[in-house]
Amino acid sequence: MTGSALLPGSVLLRPLEVGDAPALLSAYLRSREHLRPFEPVRPDSFWTLAGQQSRLDKMVREMKEGRLLACAMLQDVRMLGCATLNSIALGPFCNASLGYWVDPAEIGRGLASAAVAALCQIADQELGLHRIEASTSPLNVASQRVLAKNGFEQWGTAPKYLHINGRWQDSYLFQRILNDRPPSLLS
Ligand SMILES: CC(C)(COP(=O)(O)OP(=O)(O)OC[C@H]1O[C@@H](n2cnc3c(N)ncnc32)[C@H](O)[C@@H]1OP(=O)(O)O)[C@@H](O)C(=O)NCCC(=O)NCCS
Repeated sequence: MTGSALLPGSVLLRPLEVGDAPALLSAYLRSREHLRPFEPVRPDSFWTLAGQQSRLDKMVREMKEGRLLACAMLQDVRMLGCATLNSIALGPFCNASLGYWVDPAEIGRGLASAAVAALCQIADQELGLHRIEASTSPLNVASQRVLAKNGFEQWGTAPKYLHINGRWQDSYLFQRILNDRPPSLLS
């Protein structure tokens, strides 16, 4: 399946499906406090099954349109985290924006690093992209390490860039150039 990979520890990375809402909600509920410092304030509906189902329906639509690749990290039926290529653009940009998170019970076992490595490979070999961008809070050293281990370079700092955890926060901006291929003429 496009967008799938096997990560260390028999963890499967695969695109989210419409049936994943219960597992996705459970993973978010387990990770709520862990994610709070790094995420926008979520509406109450985000923490409900209906809310996750509606997010998933929209994501699956965007994936069919080629604008998104949102993947779950799964150990059997348990969702351990997600890694996503957002805002996929072809043409002269051939770019996507990377995001990821891991359940606090599973951090420190290399999952985020392996998922980012797999998404970079998929972006290069399957999606035909040229560049991936990412941003982190200056305080998010673990995330910066995940990016550095995967060949991302910091190219800037953006003041008051994202509204995270209730206030406008600065971000470090990273990129990885995947290849120097010209864009496909089909895109
Ligand atoms: C950031 C996050 C995705 C990392 O997930 P993970 O699966 O633990 O990541 P990995 O195990 O692949 O790698 C983490 C690296 O950071 C290092 N690290 C972790 N905490 C650190 C700290 N406080 N200081 C320095 N390094 C740290 C680890 O040692 C590891 O590096 P190593 O392999 O060289 O030892 C996870 O902590 C998370 O979900 N955080 C909340 C959401 C988030 O920050 N998402 C990214 C937004 S930009």
